[in-house]
Amino acid sequence: MTLTSTEIETIDKELAEKQPKQIIKQALDQFDNIAISFSGAEDVVLIDLALKAKKDIKVFSLDTGRLHPETYAFIDQVRKHYKIEIELISPDHTELEPFVKEKGLFSFYEDGHNECCSVRKIRPLKRKVKTLDAWITGQRKDQSPGTRNSIPTFQLDSFEGANGELYKFNPLANWSSEDVWNYIKMFDVPYNPLHNQGYISIGCQPCTRPVLPNQHEREGRWWWENEGGKECGLHATNIISKG
Ligand code: ADX
Ligand code: SF4
Repeated sequence: MTLTSTEIETIDKELAEKQPKQIIKQALDQFDNIAISFSGAEDVVLIDLALKAKKDIKVFSLDTGRLHPETYAFIDQVRKHYKIEIELISPDHTELEPFVKEKGLFSFYEDGHNECCSVRKIRPLKRKVKTLDAWITGQRKDQSPGTRNSIPTFQLDSFEGANGELYKFNPLANWSSEDVWNYIKMFDVPYNPLHNQGYISIGCQPCTRPVLPNQHEREGRWWWENEGGKECGLHATNIISKG
C-alpha cells in the first residue's frame, strides 16, 4: 500500500483524536504485515491493548545484549502471561565482534552512544522492519520535550519496509506517563520491576539509571551526553525533524 503525504496527514489527524485502543485496532485492521516493537518497559500496554483487538499479533524486541537482567526476565514474563511469541532480534555478529574487539564493551562512555546503538539496535531494527509494512511503537510526546513533542500518531518512516514504504503508528503519542500507569494499574498489566526502583525510562543497562524526584525521565538515559543527543536513532524521524 502506498499512501500520499496528504493521505498520511489525513489519517494522522483522524487518529490523533482517538484513544490508543482504537488507534491500535485501526492499525491492525489496515495492515496485515505489522508488528509491535516492545522495549521491555511500560510499552507493555501496547501488547495488552492490541490483544484486546486481535488474537494473533506480532511482537519483537531488539536484544542488544546489554539489557538489564530484570528486563530479560520481564520479556519472558510477558511472553508467558499473554501466551504470545516475542521475537528477539540480535545484532549481526559480523558487525558486533569486530566492534567490541576494537573498542571494548564501554566505548559509549568515551565517544558517545551512536556507534554502539547503530550496531546493537539500529541496524538490527532496519533488518527487521525490512520484512514489515508497518510497525507500532510506544513513543509518547511527554517522553522527551526536546525531541518527541511533535511525534505524530501515524507517519511515514524513514526506514525501508518490505514493499518500499514503511509506516509507523505511535498510538500512545498523546498519552501522558500518568495515563500509561493508570492503565497498567487498572488492568493489572505486568510491569518491569525496575520501575519500583526509580527507573522511569528503561533502555540498556549501562546507559540507563534511575532518576531523582522531579528529574525528567530522559535524564536517566545517556546522562553523560547533552540533551539534544538523547535519541538512539530507532526513531530517526525524531532526529531529522529537529533539523
Ligand atoms: S529509545 O530510542 O530511547 O531507545 P525508548 O526507550 O524511548 O526508545 O522507547 C520508545 C519506543 O521505541 C518503545 O516503546 C519501543 O516501541 C521502541 N523500542 C525502544 N527500545 C526497543 C527495543 N530494545 N526493542 C524493541 N523496541 C524498542
Ligand atoms: Fe549500546 Fe548503550 Fe546504545 Fe545499548 S543504549 S546499544 S549499550 S550505546
